[in-house]
Amino acid sequence: MSITVRVPAKVNVQLAVGAARPDGFHDLANVFLAVSLYDEVTATPADELRITCSGPDAGQVPLDTTNLAARAALALAARHGISPDVHLHIAKDIPVAGGMAGGSADGAGALLACDALWGTRASRDELLAICAELGSDVPFSLVGGAALGTGRGERLTPLEVGGTFHWVFAVADGGLSTPAVYGEFDRLVAGADVPAPAASAALLDALRTGDTALLAGALVNDLQPAALSLRPSLADTLAAGTAAGALAGLVSGSGPTTAFLVKDEDAARTVADALLASGTCRTARVATSPAPGATQIRT
Ligand code: C5P
Repeated sequence: MSITVRVPAKVNVQLAVGAARPDGFHDLANVFLAVSLYDEVTATPADELRITCSGPDAGQVPLDTTNLAARAALALAARHGISPDVHLHIAKDIPVAGGMAGGSADGAGALLACDALWGTRASRDELLAICAELGSDVPFSLVGGAALGTGRGERLTPLEVGGTFHWVFAVADGGLSTPAVYGEFDRLVAGADVPAPAASAALLDALRTGDTALLAGALVNDLQPAALSLRPSLADTLAAGTAAGALAGLVSGSGPTTAFLVKDEDAARTVADALLASGTCRTARVATSPAPGATQIRT
């Protein structure tokens, strides 16, 4: 028997970052929106824990216990006193190390798939607690939709979304390390008074009413200057997307994927074609939001 779980990518429509905390993390007001790009994680009984990965970027995915899917299986097995003997296969479609929570998606997917395969019947709260141990973005990968993340991003409040938003994602060559981007943020704000992060009322209104133009005006990512500082060429990608008619563009999370909000499906195709033709990105993907969280799709 195998269990397959599908898990969405995310874009941060607001990422407000506070000063570094004593534990090295940053307090956030992090508005997550799940988007319709998905990884699929399949769990199958095996003699020992094993990870495989397929998809165009599979070569960039670690297959050892640094993979969040492996860590999810180990964490669930340890809590329930069982042996983590499972083959986890990741069919990867979310850009790797792109700031779209692809690794977090695999962690949430593996957790749900192992829980179903092993019959451990973890409660939603237990699953969320394990997700929070795995990483700041992992709880959101489990719940999907839209949510405000506070603390280091792991404490979630679900948000209402009143419509469908259309996106284009420009995938850059190579990844950006999340700790490196936060480190650059710290360097750029050194000596300045960093305000406590707070969710933007205009942005929450835009989500609630499904108003694309309002959302375009409210998109904000405090990590963007740091990502641009480490990867200055992202400014060319942002310029190409907005010149092609995107309503707004921003770096997705810690980057280097850039996200463009567009009016509708036709505009998405036009902007994706223009981004590809501009030569400022490796590939361009079209998606919509919100998208559901981790969901079992096959047994
Ligand atoms: O929680 P996660 O493992 O995804 O975090 C990766 C890294 O990103 C952390 O080690 C830290 O450097 C940085 N981070 C942070 N503040 C957050 C979330 C992540 O500084 N709220």
